[in-house]
Amino acid sequence: MKYRIAPLFCRPWTLNGMSPKLIESHYENNYGAALNRLNALTHELQTLDVATVPAEVISRLSREQTSLLNSTLLHELYFASLGGDGRAPLETIANAIARDFGSVQRWRREFIALGEGLAGDCGWVLLTYVPRDGRLINQSTSDHAQSIAGGIPILALDMYEHAYHIDFGANTTAYVAAFMRNIHWQAVEARYTDATSVPAPRRLEQPEFGDLPSITPEEVQELLDSGQRVQIIDTRPRHYSTRAQDIVDGAVWRDPERIDEWIGTLSKDEPVVTFCVYGFHIGCQSATALRKAGFDARYMAGGHYAWKAIKGRVKLFNEGVDERGE
Ligand SMILES: [Fe+2]
Repeated sequence: MKYRIAPLFCRPWTLNGMSPKLIESHYENNYGAALNRLNALTHELQTLDVATVPAEVISRLSREQTSLLNSTLLHELYFASLGGDGRAPLETIANAIARDFGSVQRWRREFIALGEGLAGDCGWVLLTYVPRDGRLINQSTSDHAQSIAGGIPILALDMYEHAYHIDFGANTTAYVAAFMRNIHWQAVEARYTDATSVPAPRRLEQPEFGDLPSITPEEVQELLDSGQRVQIIDTRPRHYSTRAQDIVDGAVWRDPERIDEWIGTLSKDEPVVTFCVYGFHIGCQSATALRKAGFDARYMAGGHYAWKAIKGRVKLFNEGVDERGE
């Protein structure tokens, strides 16, 4: 594949406080160089003999390709971020920014701070939409390669020295201020609208027990912290429990194969949360059996390990086993 040069989106002679010379040099010498190098490297990668070339060489070329591809993508976005009057975002993007940052003013301060924070360094400041979360986030990168996986940047500020030195010398504060004065909000809003039409990646849900009500470990933690009464039953299989070191603090272990023996000890007045090792079959089956018996039971998604992964409190396993469980 050969990457093609994108025309300049902004009209350099219309920019407020940024000279055509700066934009021309940036476009030709930096964006252009990245594009040419990207094409050369892509050709090299596509034609090398992967059977004989050492892995570290392939790895280095691939990393450089990623960095150059990001450099070209971000430069195109940078030039497409300029050319407006920068004053106030349009209604749709302004509302989205206010929703995710508190206010446009707050967002602006944070974005400018990220730019000024890169003074003397090099990197990008991006306003990025994340389809998974349905929200915008500011990010500061220290090179071309860092980006939020699945994120769609809609506004880019180039903080490499080549982006400002001709006009501003080392005065990055003045450069960032000039950038903010020239933001093309119509274009940013159009990109935001496009980004929000990208569907979120499919959720990480297990299909098998898809209809069974679940609860996240974070929600269980909130229930416990709020002091609400909840019956938390660890139903990890017996063979697993013999080598278990710890158990959710607040849970008791019950043998899932002996549910008929312990079901009578539960109260129907309080919700029940069950879980197993990873949140698949056993915890779900226990919750299903309890629901059939009339309990308000849900399984904890992700099970014991998701609880541990969010640093939920645990205690020694033996403390979770009482005479009914053994
Ligand atoms: Fe640049």
